[in-house]
Amino acid sequence: MSKQKIHPANSINGGIELPGDKSISHRYAMLAAIAQGTSELRHFAAAADCHSTLACMKALGADVKVEKDLVKITGHGLRESKRALDAGNSGTTMRLLAGILAGQPFSSKLTGDNSLQKRPMKRVVGPLRQMGAQISAREDNFAPLEIRGGRLQAIDYVMPMASAQVKSAVLLAGLFADGVTTVTEPAPTRDHTELALEEFGAKIERHGLTTTIHGLGANGAGQNAEPGFSLATPSLQPRSLDVPGDLSSAVFFIAAASLFPESTLLIHNVGLNPTRTAILDVLLSMGAAISTPQLRSAHGEIVGDLAIKGTQLKGGVIEGHTIPLVIDELPMLAALGPYTEQGVEIRNAEELRVKESDRIAALADNLRRMGAQVEERPDGLRVAGRGATSAGAAKRAAALHGAEIDPRGDHRIAMAFAVAALAAEGVTTIRDSDCAAVSFPTFYAELNRLAGR
Ligand code: S3P
Repeated sequence: MSKQKIHPANSINGGIELPGDKSISHRYAMLAAIAQGTSELRHFAAAADCHSTLACMKALGADVKVEKDLVKITGHGLRESKRALDAGNSGTTMRLLAGILAGQPFSSKLTGDNSLQKRPMKRVVGPLRQMGAQISAREDNFAPLEIRGGRLQAIDYVMPMASAQVKSAVLLAGLFADGVTTVTEPAPTRDHTELALEEFGAKIERHGLTTTIHGLGANGAGQNAEPGFSLATPSLQPRSLDVPGDLSSAVFFIAAASLFPESTLLIHNVGLNPTRTAILDVLLSMGAAISTPQLRSAHGEIVGDLAIKGTQLKGGVIEGHTIPLVIDELPMLAALGPYTEQGVEIRNAEELRVKESDRIAALADNLRRMGAQVEERPDGLRVAGRGATSAGAAKRAAALHGAEIDPRGDHRIAMAFAVAALAAEGVTTIRDSDCAAVSFPTFYAELNRLAGR
């Protein structure tokens, strides 16, 4: 099993460009495989998760060529895969693909690794069944999923939870349904599916929290396709697209730089879609020094550079509608808690318990290993800040000490603790450190480089 030792650092300095955004890469890969013709996706995510999506789209008949971070995908209509589709560790692959497969005139089996097989799928199976798909799942909730695709009816779906993956699954099924599907979310979540669908030529409209998609077969074409042929005619248009850098990965470096007064960091070409930037607002409200010198637009997405300087963070409470907007950044925020003045409290985040690991338990356990004071709650946790510890504001001793970290196979837990370890006293060992490759294969090398090692 891989192990990574993290030594204390003095500052984080220099420049970095992050691998392509994971959420956007998944969506571009799926829609490129549905489109008729060749799409070019530049700066495609290095994340193992997105390569799981590419493997699935290949198994479903798309030609996929990968040259470093350039991915060329040629779609000619999806066709049945001879073997089970393996989503690996990726919930996005499984849930979004379930939506697409529900509308195909063939059967599919979707599976994943041990962690993914423990994550709830009823949230997508339910609405897809309402649209007419036949889906069976282990205990009616878990992968492997057996999906007997076919003709779908449009539905008006009012989502019981704020989840971009659920919204996306229904919209993607809606692309193959008869008629017009609407999805209403209880609170805003990332809108990359809506922007990507628009980019690839789908007819989609948005009014507040409601999104409407017109099925490709709404004009009657493609409705009586023979088995083995996709219903996706008329189809989406192939596109040539640039994927912005991943803001969720950038956050580990923003946090690392914020820990040291001497830090000056520039992050180039980061995706700054407004449904993802709540994390910057949270960090700014905690006192982080982040500026965005310039913004530009790329295929409906907003892209810019971020400049970060080290500061003393105040800490704060994260709750309510902010939670779904910063869901992937909560591990890093919690792991910063001991270095803030007032600590960090996370509420209304029970969803964290069904991510790649039970992130609330993983955070509480590993923070305690490093000497933090943590109160674990069903829907979050409270991590005490410097003000509450004997290290106190007067004496700037390290708030944490080095320890052996068990990330429980979860990439974001591994990366969050690698960052927290930079300002701890003594050496930290991250067990099973390679799990970071799920989203960021070169994470430790980049962290070491910016820490001057
Ligand atoms: C994602 C949505 C989020 C997020 C995940 C990626 C996406 O999940 O946690 O890492 O790409 O749509 P939920 O929508 O289930 O909250």
